[in-house]
Amino acid sequence: MVVERDQDIPSSRVPIIDLSNPDQELVARAVVKASEEWGVFQLINHGITTELIQRLQDVGRRFFELSEAEKKDVAKLDDSREGYARRYTLDLEKRIGTVDQLFHNVWPPSAVNYSYWPKNPQDYREVNEEYTRQVKMLSEKIMEWLSEGLGLRREAINEVVGGEYLLNVNYYPPCPHPDVIEGLDAHTDISGLTLLLTNEIPGLQVFKDDQWIDVEYIPFAVIVNISDQILRISNGKYKSVLHKTTVDKEKTRMSWAVLVRPTNDMVVGPFTELIGDDPPKFKSMVYKDYIYRKVRNLPFVDLDS
Ligand code: OGA
Ligand code: NI
Repeated sequence: MVVERDQDIPSSRVPIIDLSNPDQELVARAVVKASEEWGVFQLINHGITTELIQRLQDVGRRFFELSEAEKKDVAKLDDSREGYARRYTLDLEKRIGTVDQLFHNVWPPSAVNYSYWPKNPQDYREVNEEYTRQVKMLSEKIMEWLSEGLGLRREAINEVVGGEYLLNVNYYPPCPHPDVIEGLDAHTDISGLTLLLTNEIPGLQVFKDDQWIDVEYIPFAVIVNISDQILRISNGKYKSVLHKTTVDKEKTRMSWAVLVRPTNDMVVGPFTELIGDDPPKFKSMVYKDYIYRKVRNLPFVDLDS
């Protein structure tokens, strides 16, 4: 059954979509609608087995519980995007954000550098490779539905934003002062789309209709965030959801984000098919230039501003 709790009554609940519904057109419509209205939804019965998710979370947690010295084996170097590092941020209200992060490419094979993949636990690689295969199938399905939702060929979005998959594991240690300490400050993801798993500690919030809404924890659900590049190619039809994370007073929160992204040199802008009647809202940009500007907070030229 597709649960669309936001349909009739205004709701503060992120849409939950059941992929096992035999009526796949209904599922596709729910994905499109959630992407237009929220830019985020939760998928249940998505086909990735609970056993694999448990193994993924187990090897990730065991890596982060190693000593700092052992984790430094895969430390991020200054000019690398991949590796293990602790991140600090300061937001406008002077809240400090802190999170330990591990980044490494998982797809395609030519982009994978195993020197950034933990060797300990031993089965880290095997489990992450299997998860990559499965999450990639899921993301391609979502991109097909989103392409059709724009009236385009089903491969259209994948051809632009599906070139690379980067895994980002987040580890948020507990903190007794969650009023002044947060996890990740408010942001939209740079990627095309993000598929997220979390452990059982809630903490993700999304911004909708001028308020922050808690994303409820549903065991083994995959949270899908529409990110900047799908906002741009859809000429604003699909939302790039603003989100942030809090930290727990007592327990460690973890999350696994797979960022589905264009290759560095891909030019990303609104599909020409979409800008017949509607003027383009975004300027086409090479993806690596977009990243450069976004991480430095440089302004973008949005064509409607
Ligand atoms: C991210 C992110 C959410 C979470 O990694 O970009 O938003 O729940 N993570 O940790
Ligand atoms: Ni994010």
